[in-house]
Amino acid sequence: MKKLCFASILFIVQFELLLSFASVANALIPLKPVVLGLVKPKTIVSKTTTIWLPRLSTSYYLKTCPVVEQVIQEKMAYWFHQDNSLAASIIRLHFHDCAVRGCDASILLNHKGSERRAHASRTLRGFQVIDDIKAELERRCPRKVSCADILTAAARDATKLLNGSFWEVPFGRKDGRISLSKEADMVPQGRENITTLIHSFDSLGLSILDLVTLSGSHTIGRSTCYSIQHRLANYQGTGKPDPTLDAKYLKNLTRSCKWSSNYVNLDVTTPKTFDIEYYSNLGKKKGLLSTDQALYSDPRTSPFISVMATQPDLFFNQFAVSMVNLGNIVVPGPSSETEVRLNCNYAN
Ligand code: HEM
Repeated sequence: MKKLCFASILFIVQFELLLSFASVANALIPLKPVVLGLVKPKTIVSKTTTIWLPRLSTSYYLKTCPVVEQVIQEKMAYWFHQDNSLAASIIRLHFHDCAVRGCDASILLNHKGSERRAHASRTLRGFQVIDDIKAELERRCPRKVSCADILTAAARDATKLLNGSFWEVPFGRKDGRISLSKEADMVPQGRENITTLIHSFDSLGLSILDLVTLSGSHTIGRSTCYSIQHRLANYQGTGKPDPTLDAKYLKNLTRSCKWSSNYVNLDVTTPKTFDIEYYSNLGKKKGLLSTDQALYSDPRTSPFISVMATQPDLFFNQFAVSMVNLGNIVVPGPSSETEVRLNCNYAN
């Protein structure tokens, strides 16, 4: 018992140290300037190819487009006022962008066979918001601001509009020219086990703490019933629903999910508030996605859940740090494969 108590205290102390270190490092930005998780530069460097190595910085547009953050902020406020559900959709869009080929706006390319046209991307929303911001920035600072930077800052502003965390966004990403439908499957879809999620995040240079913290985005927004159908009946071939679902919650979900295209809230108690209820719900068997609920029971992730569920300040601080980590996933490639797109839907 004594040993267990000591281990728990040690863990919390380590966790807090990690957090305070991360916050300090974040203030010094960039926290992780470039996460080279997907492509090893060595494999692509050749004497004839110029490799583009991004240097992200908060002052990147200081001379070339000083109004960039103001324009994005004003447009986000406008769209949020029109439809506040778009804030969650923009945060998710940013994740789907960064999880494939790094944050290079590959998710925005809109052509046959692109990530955006994949089955896995069918419920992504908010593209019109980014198009609108881009059009305004092309008027104010032509050819300067990448779509990847716009999406990253828009996700930050979306979080702020929801009364969530705030952080400084390092800029300087370039837009990619490649977007492949089959790569959209690299983004977790909600039916994976924890080992798969940990590996998936690890391949992006993101930690287990990032996984638990960024999953906290599910404190807002919604999901189609398609993503949870497997939990409601004959779970894993047992002939019964998922036993980690609260009985009353299961009943309500079954009632709401007559069609797989119906929507249900990701956070059953406070769906429109950016708070720690998402984590508290997991302790009550009220996580919507099986991947969310599994974070609570797996020993690799559950200690973080307990802390997040009780300490809102820690969640808010760490969310900012983990979002910077997510936004800093940039995969270096030949400079011929990157650009500042003129229209986010198409390569130049
Ligand atoms: C840990 C792995 C993750 C899994 C398995 C996952 C899965 C999902 C699924 C299945 C949905 C609903 C899709 C549908 O409409 O059916 C969803 C929605 C959402 N996800 Fe995740 N997600 C993950 C990580 C993230 C991350 C890292 C973020 C942001 C940083 C995020 C932000 C969101 C948001 C905000 C929504 C709601 C979108 C809306 O209301 O339009 N998710 N996610």
